[in-house]
Amino acid sequence: MKYNIKNICCIGAGYVGGPTMAVFAKHCPDIQINVVDLNKERIEKWNSKDLNDLPIYEPGLDQIIVKCRGKNLDFSTDVESKISQADMIFISVNTPTKSKGIGAGKASDLKWIDASARQISKHAKPNTIVVEKSTLPVRTASTIKQILDAPDRDMVNKNFMILSNPEFLSEGSAIQNLENPDRVLIGGNEAEPIKALINIYLRWIDEKKILTTDLWSSELSKLIANAFLAQRISSINSISALCEKTGANINEVAIAVGTDKRIGNSFLNAGPGFGGSCFKKDISSLVYICNYYGLEETALYWEKVLNINLWQSKRITEIIVKNLFGTISGKKLGILGFAFKANTNDTRESPAISICSDLIEEGAILKIYDPKVKQEKISKDLKEKIKNNIGIQNEWIFSNSIEDAAKDTDAIIILTEWEEFKYINWEELSKIMRKPTWIFDTRSITDIEKAKNYGFNVWSVGNGSII
Ligand code: NAD
Ligand code: UGA
Repeated sequence: MKYNIKNICCIGAGYVGGPTMAVFAKHCPDIQINVVDLNKERIEKWNSKDLNDLPIYEPGLDQIIVKCRGKNLDFSTDVESKISQADMIFISVNTPTKSKGIGAGKASDLKWIDASARQISKHAKPNTIVVEKSTLPVRTASTIKQILDAPDRDMVNKNFMILSNPEFLSEGSAIQNLENPDRVLIGGNEAEPIKALINIYLRWIDEKKILTTDLWSSELSKLIANAFLAQRISSINSISALCEKTGANINEVAIAVGTDKRIGNSFLNAGPGFGGSCFKKDISSLVYICNYYGLEETALYWEKVLNINLWQSKRITEIIVKNLFGTISGKKLGILGFAFKANTNDTRESPAISICSDLIEEGAILKIYDPKVKQEKISKDLKEKIKNNIGIQNEWIFSNSIEDAAKDTDAIIILTEWEEFKYINWEELSKIMRKPTWIFDTRSITDIEKAKNYGFNVWSVGNGSII
C-alpha cells in the first residue's frame, strides 16, 4: 500500500527525540510532529518560554524551537492520543544497560521499548509505520513486531510495518549532524514503508546519503559504528602510555598515522577515556550479544576496548598521586572540567566522575570548575560513585572560575577540553597556587613551554618528551 505521512509521533523527548523531531518539523512544515514523554518536568521544559530552560543544551536548537513550536511541533505528555493520531511513530526511548537480573551490567534494558510497543499496539490506528530510533540489540524488531501483532480483545490485525532508522548524532553538534549527516540509514523488509521514510529525509538530504538495508543489518550497524569509534579511542589511549614511557609524543604519532587516508585523522585524540551515555552501554550490549551467540573470542575482543578505557582513567589517577610525592591526603587540587566532553552539560559516564572520586578516596580536597555543569549535578554524580559517602560534601568545593579552582592548590588537573582551558593565564595562577606547582593535562591542550616558564611541572597525556 502507498503511505501518505501527515502526522508523526515520537515517543521519548530526550537528547535524540527532541533535536531530531525539531529538525524534522523545520523541514516538513506540512507534517504535524508530536513529541511525547512520560516525564512531565521534561515536557514542561520543552514548552518553556525561556529558551535557556530547554532540557537540552545544543547549539542552534533554540532557534528551531522558536520557529516550529506551536506550529507543527508539539511537546506533550498526552502519549495515548498522539499515538492514535499518527501515521508514523518513532520510538526514541532510553535503552540503558540492565542494572539487575539476567545480563546485569551488560545487556540492554528493553523495558521502555517493550512498554512503548504495547502502547502503540493498543492505541495506534491500522497501517501505522513504527520506526526504531533508539539504539537496540540486533533482532529487537522481531520482539517489537510480536508485541505489535499480538491480537487485542477485538482480534483486529492492525498491519503494522516496522523500520529501523538509527541515529548517529553526537552531543554538542546534534543540529549540525541532523542537518547534514554523513548518512541516513534505513532498514526494513518492505519497499513502501521504506519509501515513505526516504521521502521525508529527501526534503533536506541528498539521496546519495540515504542507505537502505535489511532490518538486522541496520540495527547491528548502529552498535558497530559506536564500537569502532570507541575502539579508536582505546587504541590511541593505549599508545599514549607507550609514548610516555619511550619519549614519543602521541599528538605527533596521531598525525603521522592519521595522515594515511586509509586510517583517517578523526577520533585520534588521546584523553582520560571516553565517556557519554552510549559507548560503554553499546559495547557492553555487543559483548552480551556475542556471548549469547557463543562467539566468545569476538566478545573478548570488544571487552578489551572497555577494559583499556577503565585502565586509562585509573592510570591517570596513579600518575597524579605518584608525582605529588606519593600522597595527596589533605592536599587541595583544582579540577577543570566535569562534562564528558566540551560543549555539553552532560556528565553521563564522564571520566571526571571516576577520576575525581578516586582522588577524593585518596584523601584530596578537590576544587571543581566546569563552565556548564551545575553544582547539584556534580554533587549527585560524586555521591552515587563513592559508596561510603559520609563527609563527601567536605571533600570537594564548587568553584566559579579557573582562578577560584586554582587558589591554594598544589595542582591543576584538566579533564574536559573546554575552549577557555586552552588559554589559561599561567603567570597569574602561579601566584595563587602552593609550590611546587603541577599541571596534569589529560586533554593535551596546554601550552607546555609557557607553563614551564612560570615554574610549573607539567604532565600531559601521551607526551613522553617533557623534560
Ligand atoms: P534520554 O534518556 O535522554 O530520553 C529518553 C526519553 O524517553 C526519556 O525522557 C523518557 O522519559 C522517555 N520514555 C521512556 N519510556 C517512555 C514511554 N513508554 N513513553 C513515553 N516516554 C518514554 O535518551 P536519549 O539520549 O535521547 O537516547 C535515546 C536512544 O537513542 C537510546 O537508545 C540511545 O542509545 C540512542 N542514541 C542516543 C544518542 C545521544 O547522543 N544521546 C545518540 C544516538 C543514539
Ligand atoms: C557518540 C558518537 O560519536 C555518535 O555518532 C553516536 O550517535 C552517539 O555516541 C550515541 O550513539 O550516543 P557522543 O557520545 O555524543 O557521540 O560524543 P563523542 O564525540 O563521540 O565523544 C564520546 C567520548 O569520546 C567523549 O568522552 C570524548 O571526549 C571522547 N573522545 C572522542 C576522545 O577521547 N577522543 C577522541 O578523539 C574523540
